Amino acid sequence: MKASLLSAALALGSHVLAKQPAPANQPSLSSRIQSYSADIFPDLKAISLDIWNHPELGRSEHHAHDIIVDYFSNQRKGEWNVTAHAHGMETSWRLEFENKPKGTGCGQKLPVIGFLAEYDALPEVGHACGHNQIVLVGMTAASLVRKAVIELGIAARVVVVGTPDEEGEAGKLDLLKAGAFDGVDVWLIAHPSPGNVLSPLNSRINVLSQFRRDSHNAVVREAYDALLAVRNLANAGLPGTASSVTPVEDVGMFASNVVQGHISLGISGSTLEKVQETVGSIFDSTYPGVTYTVTADASVPGGVNLTVLGPGGHASEATKSPLVLTIETFRALTTDAQEDENLAFYLPGNTTCSALDVTFNLRSRYTADLDSVKDAVEAAVRTTSVAAILTDTVYPSLELTPVLPELFLEVTKAPELYGPDNDWTVSKVAPASTDAAYLQNAVVDPATHALLSADKVVFHPSFGICDPSKKCASNHEPAFRELAGTDYGLGRAEVVSRALAELSVKLLSDKKTMKDVTAIMKKKKNN
Ligand SMILES: *[C@@H]1O[C@H](CO)[C@@H](O)[C@H](O)[C@H]1NC(C)=O
Ligand SMILES: *[C@@H]1O[C@H](CO)[C@@H](O)[C@H](O)[C@H]1NC(C)=O
Ligand SMILES: *[C@@H]1O[C@H](CO)[C@@H](O)[C@H](O)[C@H]1NC(C)=O
Repeated sequence: MKASLLSAALALGSHVLAKQPAPANQPSLSSRIQSYSADIFPDLKAISLDIWNHPELGRSEHHAHDIIVDYFSNQRKGEWNVTAHAHGMETSWRLEFENKPKGTGCGQKLPVIGFLAEYDALPEVGHACGHNQIVLVGMTAASLVRKAVIELGIAARVVVVGTPDEEGEAGKLDLLKAGAFDGVDVWLIAHPSPGNVLSPLNSRINVLSQFRRDSHNAVVREAYDALLAVRNLANAGLPGTASSVTPVEDVGMFASNVVQGHISLGISGSTLEKVQETVGSIFDSTYPGVTYTVTADASVPGGVNLTVLGPGGHASEATKSPLVLTIETFRALTTDAQEDENLAFYLPGNTTCSALDVTFNLRSRYTADLDSVKDAVEAAVRTTSVAAILTDTVYPSLELTPVLPELFLEVTKAPELYGPDNDWTVSKVAPASTDAAYLQNAVVDPATHALLSADKVVFHPSFGICDPSKKCASNHEPAFRELAGTDYGLGRAEVVSRALAELSVKLLSDKKTMKDVTAIMKKKKNN
């Protein structure tokens, strides 16, 4: 046993004694890690499905917290140092493990790999962002690394931090302030998505506009005036690179980063035919997956109920959503030369409220441009007599740092171990945002956009969970929730866990590679 382990350690690529050829019968690191998975993955998959079946919003992930802490404290007793309610956050937890094989010097600084584990869900659509798979990858990859470093006699530390509330209010910012990420240079996380891509992620901020008038009709009209002004701004072009704005009307089910799949606008002082004709002239194939109905509203005299349905989705997609169809209908009706002086707008079934809020979800490729996007949107909203404008925490952009993408591509090249669906690409297009960007704290040259330095290395691949034989969906669509619980999707999480584990063992066992990967941080210290 011992001897074979030693020669396996020698088989680790550019390891210390790489000159000596590995015996032909030694398993490769990838097949070794694959062989551990049978003992590790099934339990963790069950935990992931349990979380998927019990969706909890950010900072309320009590069930997820409890089952994870319970599992590692009891079923995996002694394997990890487990901290419940870690870092001053009720639903955060921490796993820590260190391996000091014989001969490890007492003052020796161990290399450390950290995993970020998210498990918050979205209102109404549950795990439509698949965070049940992020925690699955974090737990699985860390457990695989733990086993590998023990068996291969590698001195190392492995950390997993349970990070609440990615979707809402930047849970990782609170954890960062509490020191949760200290002492670890390289953090790994993987996010389920429609495809396999290594890419940067956008900066984001939400602008909440509050409208307060003395009548329901007045407040709905004013909110739509603002929605129209922001739509015109976006059509004319927002400042910055690949900037977008997605409006969310704060009625019924809403979340700032989810495109609404159901919007109703009531119209009175017009006619059913006029509204039908107007919507019909606007609606076309550029509204993906959108359908609408125009009906007489029995509860409002002369009222017409325009109700629009769509697939929902991620706010970063900024598609023509149900809300956009109602804004364009509002535009057409209010700019009509024959506008009836009695024309009024309302929320069907909800006609008494004289307060209405609209959230504008803003994204921009580089953090430095986000302020000018925000200023432009606020100026558009201020063309109305908006009562108040509030903003939430900025999510900075996350940059791809050097070396790790190439290493990851190299690892996943072996189709016999990583399966056929490993068509990874490196892309410059930023599909979404993440609060993991707080750990990285990238410094980007304002003129050239070259990455200058980072506080920490954060690697955040997005892995495809769409079964090629079935219909795909995008994050935050209700259909994505289903994908996040399928065997195919969970199987993809297992594959990515193995790839991240292999990557980790390479970093932990090879000082030179670790140095290359973390060089981006040294630059900062020298500046
Ligand atoms: C837990 O922490 C203690 C104290 O730092 C350490 O001696 C022990 O090895 C750790 N246990 C594991 C499983 O890593
Ligand atoms: C009614 O509208 C108000 C905003 O005007 C909103 O806060 C509330 O959630 C709505 N109620 C329903 C049932 O949609
Ligand atoms: C408006 O129309 C939709 C779709 O037909 C319907 O579900 C909803 O109940 C209607 N609202 C009212 C207030 O009648």
